[in-house]
Amino acid sequence: MSATHAVDLLSPEATADPYTALAELRESDPVHYSDRHKAWIITRYDDVVSAMMDSRLSSARVGPVLERMRAEGADAHATEMLEVLNSWMVVQDPPEHTRLRKLAAGAFKSQRISAMEEQVAEMVAGYLDAFVASGKTDLVQHVAYPLPASIIAMLLGAPVEDRDTFGEWSDELALVAFGAGGSAREDRHERALKGVREMFAYLRTLLERVRETPGEDMISALIAPVEDGDSLTDHEVLSMCAMLLFAGHETTTNSTANGILALLRDPEQLALLRDDPDQIAVAVEELLRFDGPIKVLQRHVTETHEVAGHELAQGDRVFIALAAANRDPEKFDEPDRLDITRYPNKHVAFGRGIHACIGAQLARLEMRVNVQGILERLDGLRLEEGTELQWAPSIASRSLTRLPVLHDAV
Ligand code: HEM
Repeated sequence: MSATHAVDLLSPEATADPYTALAELRESDPVHYSDRHKAWIITRYDDVVSAMMDSRLSSARVGPVLERMRAEGADAHATEMLEVLNSWMVVQDPPEHTRLRKLAAGAFKSQRISAMEEQVAEMVAGYLDAFVASGKTDLVQHVAYPLPASIIAMLLGAPVEDRDTFGEWSDELALVAFGAGGSAREDRHERALKGVREMFAYLRTLLERVRETPGEDMISALIAPVEDGDSLTDHEVLSMCAMLLFAGHETTTNSTANGILALLRDPEQLALLRDDPDQIAVAVEELLRFDGPIKVLQRHVTETHEVAGHELAQGDRVFIALAAANRDPEKFDEPDRLDITRYPNKHVAFGRGIHACIGAQLARLEMRVNVQGILERLDGLRLEEGTELQWAPSIASRSLTRLPVLHDAV
C-alpha cells in the first residue's frame, strides 16, 4: 500500500503538519479517493479552483440530514439546531444561496468596513495593553481570540459590556457547526442549543430596538429592504447573525495566530516586516497563503462527472484542499518558503466562486491591524522555549490551541 493510500488527515503528524501529507498526494495522486475519510481529496491548485466553481459539487450538507431526521420522526427539539445551521448560506446551493447572499451583501459594504479601521486599532491596543500588564503568555487566548467576537458584536450594535459573551456563543456554535447531525454528541448538541437560544433571545431584543430606530449597524443593514422587495424573516436575520459570529470568529483568530507563528519561525521575514510596516497588506496575503485557517472545504457530488481521469459519482464526498493548492509549486515559486513580499499572490484562502468569503475585507483589516499591533507593541517577541505546539485535530481548520510567547515588557 503506498503512502497516499494510507493518508490520514487526522493523524498526529498531519495535524501538526498537513503540508507534507498533502504535497505527497498532490504529486502522486492529485484527485485521490481516501478510504480512511470516505472522500475524494483534490489537491492541485487548478483542480481546487475548478472544484470551487463547479455547480455539480454541492455545499448543501445540513438540509439532507434535517430531512432524514424529520422523516424518522425526530422532534422539534432535536432539529432546532440544524434548522439554524440550515439557514446559513454557506451550506446552501442556488437559488436559496443566491437569495441569502444578496440580502446579506448590504451588511458588508466596503465603506462600512473601511470606516472601522480606527475602532479596530483601538480595540487591539486595549487587548495588547491588558496582555502586557497581565504578564500572561498565550497569544491565542489573550490577543488573537478576543478581537473578532468583539468586532462582530460591535458590528451588530451590541453594547461593549456584552461583547465577551459573543465569544462564548461562538465557541458553543463551533462545537456543532461542522460535526452537526448524526455524529454530534448529545451533550455538545445541548450546549450549542442552549447557547443559540440565549444568543437569539439577546439578538431579538437588539432587532426590536433596531426596527424602531435603525442605525449604522449590521442588523439595520440586514433588515433594510432590497430593490426587488425581498427581505429576511426574523429567524433568518438571527441565524445570519449567528453565522457571521461563527464564520468570522474562529477563522480570524486562527489566521492571526498562524500568521504570528509563521513570522516567529522565520526571523528574517519578521525583521523585514518590522523594518517596513507599509508591507503589511502584502504580508497578510502571504500569511494567509502560507498557513491559512481553513485547510479543507467539503462538498458532495450531485451529478456524476470526471475530474482528471477519475469518476466522481453522485453522492460522493469531496474534500477541496485549500492548504494543498496554496503550496502548489505549479502556481507559487518556492511554495514552502514564507515570503512577505510575494506579489502577486493568488492564494485561495478565502475560497472562490459563489461562496467566496463575504467577510474577506473585514478579515484582512482585522489581520492587518492585529499583526501590526502585535509587532509594534511586543518588542523582542519570541516563542516561549520548550513549548510543544498543539494543533486542534480537525480536517477543516488549522487551529493552534495555544501560542505561548515571551517579549520584553515595555
Ligand atoms: C482570515 C479569515 C477568514 C478566512 C480565511 C475565511 C475563509 C472563508 C472561505 C474559504 C469561505 C468559503 C467557504 C465555502 O466555499 O464553503 C468563506 C465563506 C464565508 N465567510 Fe469567511 N473567512 C474569514 C473570515 C470571515 C469573516 C471575518 C466573516 C464575517 C464576519 C466571514 C464570513 C463568511 C461567510 C458568511 C461565508 C459564506 C459565504 C457564502 O456561502 O456565500 N468570514 N470564508
